[in-house]
Amino acid sequence: MSITSSAAWQALQQHAEQAKQSHIKDMFAEQPARFSELSFHTDNLLLDLSKQRFQLTTVYLLVQLAKTQKLPAKIKAMFDGEILNPSENRPALHTALRQPKDNTLSLNGTDIVADVHQSLDAMAQLADRIHQQQWRGYNGSPIQNIVNIGVGGSDLGPLMCCKALAEWVPEEAKQLNVHFVSSMDGSQLERLLHKLEPASTLFIISSKSFSTIDTLANAKTAREWLINASGAPAEIINQHHFIGVTSKPEKAESWGIPIANQLHFWDWTGGRYSLWSVIGFPIALHIGVKNFHRLLAGAHKMDEHFRTSELNSNLPVLLALTDIWNINFLDIHAHAILPYDGRLSHLPAYLEQLEMESNGKNVSLDGKVTDYRTCPILWGEIGSNAQHAFYQLLHQGTEAVMCDFIVPAERYQQASEELQQQHQLALANCLAQSRLLALGDSIFESADQAPAYKRYQGNQPSSTIMLKSLDPETLGELIALYEHKVFVQSVIWNINPFDQWGVELGKVIATDLLSQFNSDDTSQLDSSTAGLIDFIQSNTGSRKTDGGNAE
Ligand code: F6P
Repeated sequence: MSITSSAAWQALQQHAEQAKQSHIKDMFAEQPARFSELSFHTDNLLLDLSKQRFQLTTVYLLVQLAKTQKLPAKIKAMFDGEILNPSENRPALHTALRQPKDNTLSLNGTDIVADVHQSLDAMAQLADRIHQQQWRGYNGSPIQNIVNIGVGGSDLGPLMCCKALAEWVPEEAKQLNVHFVSSMDGSQLERLLHKLEPASTLFIISSKSFSTIDTLANAKTAREWLINASGAPAEIINQHHFIGVTSKPEKAESWGIPIANQLHFWDWTGGRYSLWSVIGFPIALHIGVKNFHRLLAGAHKMDEHFRTSELNSNLPVLLALTDIWNINFLDIHAHAILPYDGRLSHLPAYLEQLEMESNGKNVSLDGKVTDYRTCPILWGEIGSNAQHAFYQLLHQGTEAVMCDFIVPAERYQQASEELQQQHQLALANCLAQSRLLALGDSIFESADQAPAYKRYQGNQPSSTIMLKSLDPETLGELIALYEHKVFVQSVIWNINPFDQWGVELGKVIATDLLSQFNSDDTSQLDSSTAGLIDFIQSNTGSRKTDGGNAE
């Protein structure tokens, strides 16, 4: 039976008929204690849902929906390591990656918390060798540049955290520059190689599967660059300049990375949930191992909140149910992520993968095509920059968009007065935009005198996540908040958030097409693809004969 025929869903649908007619400005007018009734917090983080298009009754009905979908039991199942990813026959145990050392969790008779800490300790030792300049390049040079080569979950999480926490670089890591390379076309790598000195550059090849072509292509180019620059044999280069981070040691080894140069994790860690594992090695190199553990501790704190709080005061649950309301009952299908802090510039890209690769699915766990919407289109940008780009659409376009405003309350306490003022400016803009999106120009008495093109309708719902400040713990909490939000949504939608079959077929077709680039017979392809290949061939002279078949 589809969730849409449950009593809880139908009650929400009925409730939405009325809600669709109402305006957030009236909700504020009618409910003086709206903020205190619809905002929730942990020690470090405040979640304000009062600018959403809903009432306390809505929250009550949404919680009933969560109970219908047996959310508490599903949360327990995830933490206990039950198989929640049936299409790959795996549990999803990213929460185990941030459990403290003295905890235990048995999976098939093995204590995986002990395994996790063994792996984190190996990572710490390696980081220490690099920080202490004991790891040397082929000619004895200490390492100054780290290049992480990875893509998707093996890139976005570490990159986002390194950018967000760049102020937390400890003394021992100050001599290191950490770079990220992901794009398969080689453009990021090529630019970087011009600047780097081979002997002092160490590449981390981060790939859970160690078979992602984007990563392997960049890794190959990097190795050739080193071999050509040094004149040293591949064996020496592999030994001094490559570390492999993977769940497939044998594949990394056959590529050439000795086992001693590898860090390992497990298939029960999903790629987009892996920054807490040794995939976080670049983070540990950049902000130090201690700060990396603070990031883990922050995430664990959110795990405990999520695991133990009642549904109606549980931040990830409430954030998820809010989106469910917007998507499934108010028909809002676009979601903007708007951090008002330049350090969080990579958060939107990270969340795009987390949310859309997890929940961008139209088949339920029962194998049926869903008769309801799932993940919306998610995108984002530093909020204040987006004000000068796409906010026009948010304020006066024809699309309903839900927004997440994310900002720390405190910043620059030890910095200049000018910078402190800049943070105040960012805060004021963040609050101004969410206020205007919610209330429209009704905040000005004479607004209705203005011509239509100057009017602001408002009624665009938003959530504000205000952090006390941005530090490793709080960032850990924030990321785990979103991870669990995504999980809760998947439970409501009855989909598997831990697989990603929708990315596979494109890879197969690309491999096949690659072999067609030199072919003079593309007749089995559609006319568009054949025509584009013909254009490539005539511009690169790669055609075997002149017998192209483009229409
Ligand atoms: O193609 C999608 C994907 O599998 C993501 O899920 C993953 O994060 C990324 O590719 C990278 O995979 P890997 O770490 O195995 O190279």
